Amino acid sequence: MAIILSVSGSPSAFSRTARLLRHVDEGLRSQGHEVIALDVRSLPPEALLYADASHPAIAEVIALFRRAAGVVIGTPVYKAAYSGLLKSLLDVLPQSALTGKTVLPLATGGTTAHVLAIDYALRPVLSSMNPAHITQGWFTLDKDIMVGDDDTLTIAPAAARALADVTNRFSRALCGMSLPADRPRTDRSHQPHAVGQVRIRWNAGAARTLLA
Ligand SMILES: Cc1cc2nc3c(=O)[nH]c(=O)nc-3n(C[C@H](O)[C@H](O)[C@H](O)COP(=O)(O)O)c2cc1C
Repeated sequence: MAIILSVSGSPSAFSRTARLLRHVDEGLRSQGHEVIALDVRSLPPEALLYADASHPAIAEVIALFRRAAGVVIGTPVYKAAYSGLLKSLLDVLPQSALTGKTVLPLATGGTTAHVLAIDYALRPVLSSMNPAHITQGWFTLDKDIMVGDDDTLTIAPAAARALADVTNRFSRALCGMSLPADRPRTDRSHQPHAVGQVRIRWNAGAARTLLA
């Protein structure tokens, strides 16, 4: 099984994207992978803004990328693209940071008008970093990611199924298994669904905090 770095690019302290990624992380761990969670917002802002690759925290992140065989990249859609915070990290990484790696791109957003942001905005940037494979990504509507008063995460069933599909495809690609040619079973219509099948307990401390 593989080492996977799971990167949330949301600047929000109360982040649905980060919660969604931690849910995906659990699925990958249950398949035997080692998953290292990273919230970009935990990195020193000056190092990101000034693209200081020599900063110890950035050097540590670069080392994490080097170790990982797989990378999950999650971002909220901001202004029809990925977050500036995620871009600030990608910009400070070496051009080869994704070389030979398998990448799963995930996004959350408020409107289906931007459901293709992964493909027209994020995927080209990731491609420029020379990954071996970018697997099928997925856009999840923010309203399908619900957080209860007790901090319990609930993902709408159709969204959860779609995420499981793309996560399994990513896992299979990492293990060098052939991928079926079909798209995920779940469609992209994002119709309202009954809620309540997938519930996990959010543990903010589980995300790796560098130089906190
Ligand atoms: C500054 C800002 C810009 C946004 N722009 C878009 C957008 O262009 N398209 C969209 O679908 N959602 C947009 N949203 C909604 C977020 O993408 C969505 O709520 C997302 O799930 C937030 O993730 P987070 O909780 O991890 O920050 C925007 C939100 C903010 C705060």
